[in-house]
Amino acid sequence: MMGNTFPKWYDFFMSPLEKGRFKSIRRDLLQRANGTVLEVGSGTGINFPYYQSVKKVTAIEPSQNMIERSNKRTELSIVPIQIIRESAERLPFVDNTFDTVVATLVLCTIPNPEIALQEMKRVCKLDGKILLFEHVRMKNPFLAKLQDWLTPFWKKVCDGCNLNRDTVMMIKSNGLEILEKRTFYNGLFVQLEIMKK
Ligand SMILES: C[S@@+](CC[C@H](N)C(=O)[O-])C[C@H]1O[C@@H](n2cnc3c(N)ncnc32)[C@H](O)[C@@H]1O
Repeated sequence: MMGNTFPKWYDFFMSPLEKGRFKSIRRDLLQRANGTVLEVGSGTGINFPYYQSVKKVTAIEPSQNMIERSNKRTELSIVPIQIIRESAERLPFVDNTFDTVVATLVLCTIPNPEIALQEMKRVCKLDGKILLFEHVRMKNPFLAKLQDWLTPFWKKVCDGCNLNRDTVMMIKSNGLEILEKRTFYNGLFVQLEIMKK
């Protein structure tokens, strides 16, 4: 179970990236959100200021420490945000509930990402979309091996985060169709707009 150390330092360590390129990536991704939104693994609420014209955001997050750290951003948000303490592998919603499902830097950490993807697909409306921003296994074989090598240490330091997950392949093999894919930092990060098949 996640303690308080990772949540406490998360925003601090992410701030160089968040002030830089991540800002425009998140802005571009989240301006595509519409209607009722589910955000999976909302963490410290870093995405909350980027929701501008959606009806409501329902966020699920299993870590109470993360939820507490997101409270300020919840209060300041211009759209209604409700956070539920739950995990992505068992979403407490009926099928076809949300217009948009969002996950950023989460599929790397979720213990069972395939079940989480199936759950995200299930609760997304038939004409809805899934918006992702993730770090993934790199195409360059040398860099991918380096990711494999670093992962055991990285996982310990970053609360279960897997540096080497082939999330794009997992998405394709779970019956989801990628409408748009953008890559950043030599293919380490991807931004995806996905629809149900
Ligand atoms: C690296 S942080 C990303 C936070 C935020 N989404 C962002 O973009 O910065 C990963 C988050 O996934 C959450 N998480 C871990 N296991 C999860 C699960 N099974 N279901 C949903 N979220 C989970 C963690 O608690 C943490 O808040």
